[in-house]
Amino acid sequence: MQESLRGADFLIDAKEKQATAKQAFVFLASLTSKRPMKSDRKRVSAGLRVLIADKEEKLSMTILSTQELKKIYGAGENEVHALDGVNFQVEKGEFVAVVGTSGSGKSTLLHMLGGLDRPTSGSVTVDGKEIFTLKDEELTIFRRRKIGFVFQNYNLVPVLNVYENILLPVQLDGGSPDQTYINEIIDTLGLASKLANLPNNLSGGQQQRVAIARALASKPAIILADEPTGNLDSKTSQDVLSLLKVTGQKFSQTIVMITHNEAIAQMADRVIRIEDGRIVTKEAV
Ligand SMILES: Nc1ncnc2c1ncn2[C@@H]1O[C@H](COP(=O)(O)OP(=O)(O)OP(=O)(O)O)[C@@H](O)[C@H]1O
Ligand SMILES: [Mg+2]
Repeated sequence: MQESLRGADFLIDAKEKQATAKQAFVFLASLTSKRPMKSDRKRVSAGLRVLIADKEEKLSMTILSTQELKKIYGAGENEVHALDGVNFQVEKGEFVAVVGTSGSGKSTLLHMLGGLDRPTSGSVTVDGKEIFTLKDEELTIFRRRKIGFVFQNYNLVPVLNVYENILLPVQLDGGSPDQTYINEIIDTLGLASKLANLPNNLSGGQQQRVAIARALASKPAIILADEPTGNLDSKTSQDVLSLLKVTGQKFSQTIVMITHNEAIAQMADRVIRIEDGRIVTKEAV
C-alpha cells in the first residue's frame, strides 16, 4: 500500500518533470524485487494517464476561457472587428465584471461566451468543452444546461406567472425541478409573495429578480449577465447585484457581468476592460 502510494506520487511528479512512462516504469520496477514484465509497462502507462487526467482535473479550476477569439461583422468597407483576439480565463466561482465604452465589443463577447453566436475564428471552452465544435442543436442543449442568461430587458414571458417563468428553462430541458433548491432561490431573491403575479404587475427590480431566479433555476455553472441593472435605479441596482452575488456564492456559480456602472463593477472579484474588441486591463479589485 505504502509503496504503491509512493509510486503514484512519483508518477505525478514524473509528469510534471516531463518524465516518460518508461522512466516511471523503471522507478516502479525498483520498488519491487521482481524483474518487471512487459505487461507491467502497459499498466504503468495506463495508470499514469489516469493519474494525470485526475490531477489535471483537480488543478484546473478554469470554467470558461477564450482562445484568440475574433468576431468580424460585415465585409469590405463595412467590416467591423467587434472582437479582435480575446484571450481570457474565468475561474470556477469567480465574479467578473466586463466594462468598456459603447461599441467596444462587450455584448459580442458575452454572446460568444454563451454560444449564442459563433465567432469568426478562435474558440471558447466551457467546463472543458470547446463549445463551437458542437452542432447548433447540441450547442442549444449545452447552453440550456450550463449557462444562465440575464439580459437588461429581462426577457420574461408575459403570459406566464413568476413561478412559471422561473421554472421554464428546467421544463424546456425536460428535467424535473429540484424543489428545495428552487424554493431557496425564491426566498433568497424575495419573490415568495409574488409567484402568482404576471411579469407586468411587477416593478423593474422585481422583474429583474425573476430573471435572475430563472437564470439560476437550472443550476447553470455560469451566469452571463448583460447590463442586468441597466434599467434600474442605483439603489435597486445595488440590491439586485448583492443578491446575484450572494446567490452566486451560495450555489457556487460563476458570474460574468457587463456593466456601465463603476460602483456595480467594484462589487466583482475582477474587472476586465474591453476597448476596440481587445482586453486592455485585468484588474483585481
Ligand atoms: N449584428 C451586428 N452586425 C453588425 N455589427 C455589429 C453587430 N453587433 C454588433 N456590431 C458591432 O460590433 C461592435 C461591438 O458591438 P457590441 O454590441 O459588442 O458593443 P458593446 O460593447 O456591447 O456596446 P454597448 O455598451 O453599447 O452595448 C460595434 O461596433 C457594433 O456596431
Ligand atoms: Mg452591449
